[in-house]
Amino acid sequence: RMQGARQLMKVFVTRRIPQEGMRILTQAADLDVSVWDSDEPVPRAELMKRVAGINGMLCLLTDRIDAEVLDAAGPNLKVISTLSVGFDHLAIDEIKKRGMRVGYTPDVLTDATAELTVALLLATARRLPEGVDEVKSGGWSSWKPLWMCGYGLSGSTVGVIGLGRIGLAIAHRLKPFGVKKLLYAGRAPKPQAAEVQAEYVPLDTLLTESDFIVVSCSLTPETKGLCDKAFFSKMKKTAVFINTSRGQVVNQEDLYEALSSGQIAAAGLDVTTPEPLPTDHPLLTLKNCVVLPHIGSATYSTRGTMAELAANNLLAGLRGTAMPSELAL
Ligand code: NDP
Ligand code: DGY
Repeated sequence: RMQGARQLMKVFVTRRIPQEGMRILTQAADLDVSVWDSDEPVPRAELMKRVAGINGMLCLLTDRIDAEVLDAAGPNLKVISTLSVGFDHLAIDEIKKRGMRVGYTPDVLTDATAELTVALLLATARRLPEGVDEVKSGGWSSWKPLWMCGYGLSGSTVGVIGLGRIGLAIAHRLKPFGVKKLLYAGRAPKPQAAEVQAEYVPLDTLLTESDFIVVSCSLTPETKGLCDKAFFSKMKKTAVFINTSRGQVVNQEDLYEALSSGQIAAAGLDVTTPEPLPTDHPLLTLKNCVVLPHIGSATYSTRGTMAELAANNLLAGLRGTAMPSELAL
């Protein structure tokens, strides 16, 4: 039909997302929305087909958006909006080269992710999953003075690697547990560190002095494999390691070695390589390793807000207006 003669902008959404976001896209009169309407990831071959000719894409951290996908999409693709704050799944150089805009979801998931990190830290340090297993298996024979002991935050030194939005929110939450000293390491000192009286130290100092080490940095070429044999060997034998950033920051073979040899006390991971972690993975045989299925931002309200923000980023990008959260490329 000739009607209006204005062409709709084609959008592909790579997964079923919370209705808060979907509603915004389907109600936009200038969009033609197509969705991979499943809770499981779109297969790569299907992704390559579905992106052909689109103007905008709302994607997830499980979609690798590289030159191949961008080429398959073609020159009409102008906006990529990811339902995540992390953007290591996006080939930023290729995207930049093609003059595209990128939206992401910082801030709105900071509280939920910091809260989950604290939960994981306490669960790991006080051995909660192991304790629950003992209750169910009959391993709980009596109250025993030497049984199921772990490590407490009170009077401890906590080291945060990557004192960004989430790292700072974690520090704010840990302080009231009686943490004596907060250390942080990163590329440069952060003025916000003053809010939690955190001290900027070289990584080696953080590793040797901390009772708890929390990794909350972004995944970059510099942080990839950062937590390796040398890293774990500098930690105290009684220290607890927590990672809620990205799995690839950790060398998992080295972590397994450190945990099984008693080089470090325990580890709690919300992120792994790969995801999902195969059920026969060696790390899952260890009592002192708590693994969660990447649920840092998983509260109902946070996921709804993330979807709303990702949808609004996409719309603004397509309409050529300011995005609520645009990634500076
Ligand atoms: P920010 O960008 O605010 O924080 C990232 C921090 O990492 C920055 O302070 C950055 O420092 C720091 N960093 C970069 N390179 C290094 C390095 N070499 N050594 C130490 N620190 C470094 O992002 P957010 O806090 O919002 O998110 C952080 C990450 O958390 C995301 O990138 C994502 O991967 C992950 N995440 C995981 C979730 C989960 O479900 N488990 C949920 C949400 C996020 P600088 O400012 O100097 O670059
Ligand atoms: C992110 O946003 O990067 C998290 O990993 C999931 O919320």
